[in-house]
Amino acid sequence: RISIKDLYREPDLFLNQTISVEGWVRTLRVSKNFGFIEINDGTFFNNLQIVFDENLNNFQEVAKLTLSSALHVEGTLVKSLGAKQLFELKASVIEIIGLSEPDYPLQKKRHSFEYLRTIAHLRPRTNTFSAVFRLRSTLAFAIHKFFQEKGFVYVHTPIITGSDCEGAGEMFRVSTLDYEQLPKNPQGQVDFGEDFFGKETNLTVSGQLAVETYSMAFKNVYTFGPTFRAENSNTARHAAEFWMIEPEMAFADLKDNMHLAEELLKYLIREMLENLPDEMAFFNSFIDKALSDRLVQVLNADFARITYTEAIQLLQKSGIKFEYPVAWGQDLHTEQERALTEQIFKKPVFVTDYPKEIKAFYMRLNDDGKTVAAMDLLVPGVGEIIGGSQREERLEILENRMSQLGLNHQDYWWYLDTRKYGGTPHAGFGLGFERAIMYLTGMTNIRDVISFPRTPKNAEF
Ligand code: 4AD
Ligand code: MG
Repeated sequence: RISIKDLYREPDLFLNQTISVEGWVRTLRVSKNFGFIEINDGTFFNNLQIVFDENLNNFQEVAKLTLSSALHVEGTLVKSLGAKQLFELKASVIEIIGLSEPDYPLQKKRHSFEYLRTIAHLRPRTNTFSAVFRLRSTLAFAIHKFFQEKGFVYVHTPIITGSDCEGAGEMFRVSTLDYEQLPKNPQGQVDFGEDFFGKETNLTVSGQLAVETYSMAFKNVYTFGPTFRAENSNTARHAAEFWMIEPEMAFADLKDNMHLAEELLKYLIREMLENLPDEMAFFNSFIDKALSDRLVQVLNADFARITYTEAIQLLQKSGIKFEYPVAWGQDLHTEQERALTEQIFKKPVFVTDYPKEIKAFYMRLNDDGKTVAAMDLLVPGVGEIIGGSQREERLEILENRMSQLGLNHQDYWWYLDTRKYGGTPHAGFGLGFERAIMYLTGMTNIRDVISFPRTPKNAEF
């Protein structure tokens, strides 16, 4: 049994040999006494053409095959006379393993991405989604390779947590009890004592706090797993369930952090250009004609590095009309992030040192007392793909900040311990995996780069 990938890689090895393959019918053309079937077995982009004729003992059944039927085929690999392919399989046996019903939804035409989302369980059988999800798999592995080659330790951080890392309150609650039934104390706060964990818990929004504690043991660590946010924003770049890559380095500052982020992104681009030629060719022809050129340019230039304050000044001076006001103290709106990367710098841009009020509690306070050592990486077409920072390692300043924000210190006692017992400067970031894939492929909707997207009012499948 040969995979179609093997055949395309080294056809000479199999020419004029008897081989067997299995796969699903992608196209079928039948004349009176012969026919052609293209099958795909999922291992490779291209189909294999099967030629058959009346000599098959089940010729009548084969002639009536439906799209997506599963087959086992035996035959001889021969040079093809057709212009479309170099070789084809002259079938001696075609065994019908699973006959597809005639109402198979993926008929031979281009379907819209919107329609394909409604059949997310079938869309991996199309060329676009085959390319997207093969690339996603390769990139996930490349991310592990990148960190493992550097000696980073992979930490599995918990999915169910008792704290809100980002302090944005956008969490999915985890409970065995009906929220309405839980008793309330005289102040009106819900008492979770009767609940499974005996306290309020939620699906993690970020593995950062947990992975930070491991960085104080292993120095360089990373976590890579699913994260969850109940953000009710129905945009093309927000999902309620998405994957995040979060490295954390002890004895490191914001510069080290930016260096690592830039290295990681360039590593992934190189991986794609070197190891995914067929997928890249597909994206270049059907999704974004300038993709490879753009990625090569990114490889060959340093990312821009500016402070938030400089970004505000640049945007104000740009003469670009924005829908939302550009003012120091306001978070950058998507339109402004895109202006920075698409019009002003025309490449990825690190924006650092944001006002503390618009960033999370754990970021290190700068000497000006107003900004924190934050970094966002903005890229053309998508906007923010990375959020990170140097962490506040000074216990007193961290505790002050938590008090100002009304965070209960007892809930974070274990986090604060890392500052008490040999705390060091440290830094890390979170790369949104789906946003990275969008950027690296030119796909424009997050729903089309994750297998079964979870978005507001949508948890089908
Ligand atoms: O900027 P964020 O919120 O940073 C953190 O969570 C930090 N704790 C990470 C760290 O320092 N270890 O999220 C990081 C990235 C964003 O830049 C974005 O790429 C992605 O996660 N992200 C989302 N992706 C898809 N859907 C959403 N709703 C996302 N929210 C954040
Ligand atoms: Mg962010």
